[in-house]
Amino acid sequence: MDALKSLLPFYAGSVKCIFIDPPYNTGSAFSHYDDNLEHSLWLNMMYPRLELLRELLAEDGSIWITLDDNESHYCKIMCDEIFGRNNFINNVIWEKKYAPQNDAKWLSDNHDHILCYAKNKEKWRPNLLLRSDEMNARYKNPDNDPRGSWKAGDLSVKTYNANTDYPITVPSGRIVNPPTGYCWRVSKEKFDEMVADNRIWFGKDGNNVPAIKRFLSDVKDGVTSLTIWKYTEVGHNQQAKQEVKLFNSEDVFDTPKPEALLQKILTLATNQGDLVLDSFLGSGTTVAVAHKMNRRYIGIEIGEHAKTHVVPRLRQVIDGEQGGVSGSLNWQGGGAFRFCELGVSVFDEYGSLNPEIKFADLAAYIWFLQTKTPFVFSDGIKPHTPLIGVHENTVYYLLYNGILGDKKPQNGNVLTRKILAELPDLADFVAQGKTIVMYGEACRLGDEALRQNRMVFKQIPYHVTDK
Ligand SMILES: C[S@@+](CC[C@H](N)C(=O)[O-])C[C@H]1O[C@@H](n2cnc3c(N)ncnc32)[C@H](O)[C@@H]1O
Repeated sequence: MDALKSLLPFYAGSVKCIFIDPPYNTGSAFSHYDDNLEHSLWLNMMYPRLELLRELLAEDGSIWITLDDNESHYCKIMCDEIFGRNNFINNVIWEKKYAPQNDAKWLSDNHDHILCYAKNKEKWRPNLLLRSDEMNARYKNPDNDPRGSWKAGDLSVKTYNANTDYPITVPSGRIVNPPTGYCWRVSKEKFDEMVADNRIWFGKDGNNVPAIKRFLSDVKDGVTSLTIWKYTEVGHNQQAKQEVKLFNSEDVFDTPKPEALLQKILTLATNQGDLVLDSFLGSGTTVAVAHKMNRRYIGIEIGEHAKTHVVPRLRQVIDGEQGGVSGSLNWQGGGAFRFCELGVSVFDEYGSLNPEIKFADLAAYIWFLQTKTPFVFSDGIKPHTPLIGVHENTVYYLLYNGILGDKKPQNGNVLTRKILAELPDLADFVAQGKTIVMYGEACRLGDEALRQNRMVFKQIPYHVTDK
């Protein structure tokens, strides 16, 4: 929660794809985390995190949540409330196991649910999946058509229209009609045009029911994903375990996801360079795959395995490991990541500003509070003057932590005439008619001086609040 909150000032509205694989609430105690919460506690744990995740999603972003029958249906209702029922995309069924478990008391459960929501269904569209060689192999060229391979498609359709119900004489002389209740897909004129253009196939002997030639060159560059994902395509639980053994064979992570599953989600939901987030990172599958697919990523993990499993895994990815989806992506290694630990929070347990908070962090927090847009360090440099930034017609300054050089408590954090003269670019902004919002510990200027400088003073900590 704290990590998600601390990301908001920098990444709100910027994440293209969130994948989470939270504890399923199976009642188990796995070696790296417990998975046994009372049902309402599980919902209470998830709700505020999902709300924060929604704030982090980009307008054209999507979130994918894996669960099983323990909580998936309850989570669906909760997500309807948080993301909007109209933004629900699908409940993908992933075949996570293939062999029946004969000691199962009732049925042998072999699928997980993957709930998918868009931040805004009208703005989000999934990418197409690459056509497989197997799909392309269904296209042949028995008549050596110069337009290339093709596949025969039905000429008849079930939505009946009397205007396109007509007899056709095939080259052998036989007369064929659409099956009872069906009609042809095209009018007689269009059909004749297609025959003239060699787009109708009557079979090798010219005696078959006519079919439409669908050329490989005319089909879309890819295929639309189905909602049932078989293990043959995206892997299964045991395969995932084999994959993570590579990174920590002594202490194998219990519940990883296969890399191919993440590859499919990231293919559908992101493009190169997009930002991916997983806030229940586990053994790091999401970030490993995102790295290999040239996506930017953020992973959050509460357990020690962030260090013992994820870090070694990413190091090996950078070194060019060849497990998981490396082969299919032609992964050769490279790139980098940063490992961060949570610092002090902006507010202490009583809701007061934490005195240990650094200037740049408070600046980012205030910026987000005021503008609701992510704070971007210009040229990657942390802010080092009181000027935080300009948003629309308002300029934000912050006097805190002796940013002007005087580290004595209070000094330099209090707005005086001397400090006013030192504020970068103030006169220009005032001349441009901008509104100046100044955060500081105290203000020694009178109302008239504030008015002349088009300035609103906000006192820290009182005007900095997460309420
Ligand atoms: C099912 S595992 C994720 C596995 C992961 N998808 C993989 O491929 O390895 C769930 C993870 O969520 C972590 N977790 C549980 N509660 C958390 C929380 N409040 N914040 C962050 N991580 C949490 C657990 O430590 C565990 O590693």
